[in-house]
Amino acid sequence: MFQIQIDGSSKQFSCAPDDTILRAALRAGIGFPYECNVGSCGNCKFELLEGELQNTWEQAPGLSEKDRSKNRWLGCQSQPCANARIKMREMEHYAPIHPPLKTQAQLLSKREITHDLHEFTFECDQAMTFASGQYALIHFAGVPGPRAYSMSQGGSSSKRVDFQVRLIPGGVGTEKLFTMPVGEQVEIDGPYGMAYLRQDAPRDILLVGGGSGLAPMISLARGALALAEPKFKNIHFIYGAREARDVCGLDMLEELPQWKTMGHYTAVVSNASEQETLSKGTERGYVHEAVARLHADELAQMEIYFAGPALMAQAMIKLLVDQKVPMNQVHFDQFY
Ligand SMILES: Cc1cc2nc3c(=O)[nH]c(=O)nc-3n(C[C@H](O)[C@H](O)[C@H](O)COP(=O)(O)OP(=O)(O)OC[C@H]3O[C@@H](n4cnc5c(N)ncnc54)[C@H](O)[C@@H]3O)c2cc1C
Ligand code: FES
Repeated sequence: MFQIQIDGSSKQFSCAPDDTILRAALRAGIGFPYECNVGSCGNCKFELLEGELQNTWEQAPGLSEKDRSKNRWLGCQSQPCANARIKMREMEHYAPIHPPLKTQAQLLSKREITHDLHEFTFECDQAMTFASGQYALIHFAGVPGPRAYSMSQGGSSSKRVDFQVRLIPGGVGTEKLFTMPVGEQVEIDGPYGMAYLRQDAPRDILLVGGGSGLAPMISLARGALALAEPKFKNIHFIYGAREARDVCGLDMLEELPQWKTMGHYTAVVSNASEQETLSKGTERGYVHEAVARLHADELAQMEIYFAGPALMAQAMIKLLVDQKVPMNQVHFDQFY
């Protein structure tokens, strides 16, 4: 174990040589800013003042040449080789609600949701406590770097964790997962993520998922509709798919108590031709356009969660800024 001292603070934390600076800080309850955990967003940057680190992914897109020349590192991609002193801006908001832990896990079962989106259930050696909407990192043997996947169950403390993953052709992690035999072991590290259910928010809920962003939205719907004293009256779920055959999620929502009285589901398909007949309740277009069409006037009065590809997330952010939605009501994960 190495000791990592935060410059200008009395705080320090221990970091194992095979852990990362970001994750070890979060395990110690420190509010270390981050988002993706996989080297892409750049939110976990810090400056190394003393000591020695190694980079787990030299080419990580979250760090520019200028950053490197200024001795800046990514918290999610740096491991200690000695004690170190770092400069970072601690933000209480990022202190984990459930400290992340690493556990071995075994693949228990797989289930097809659509042709390329499957559900994978793992049994962990140790129970993971997480809030609805959070994600975990899966380390696959032989794959460089972990992959982030959102749990699809409502928040709980459970040895069983479910993920819903879209197969990316040529993707190293997803091809490994989709061909993995039941019984194989992985390492799971979590929970992470800030887009978790705000149980006390006194507003209707809008959940927007694009493609592989289904799981965290299903988790949030499950968590919200299981609350004993919900503070909202309606929960709106908008799912953006590329083709009609990608539309999914409604069957999982209809199983939930209270969905009938509080739930509203819309699917939006971006690549449907004018000739194609879409099922009832399915619209044409992009998911952010449907959000604007259906809810523009009420967005500022909603608690809004979204997840999916970065392009979709950027379009959602623009819409919400244009509509002057207070950013403390907006919670999202961009999938890199
Ligand atoms: C917060 C978050 C939650 C997500 N939740 C889901 C979900 O619920 N369902 C889902 O289907 N997808 C989800 N994703 C996307 C998922 O993590 C993967 O990016 C996607 O499955 C493609 O992985 P791949 O290995 O097949 O593709 P690849 O193209 O092989 O890998 C892409 C991913 O691996 C990382 N990576 C690539 N090379 C390296 C390296 N050398 N070292 C370290 N890291 C590397 C990249 O940052 C990127 O995250 C989520 C992503 C994020 C950030
Ligand atoms: S959290 Fe490290 S780059 Fe995104």
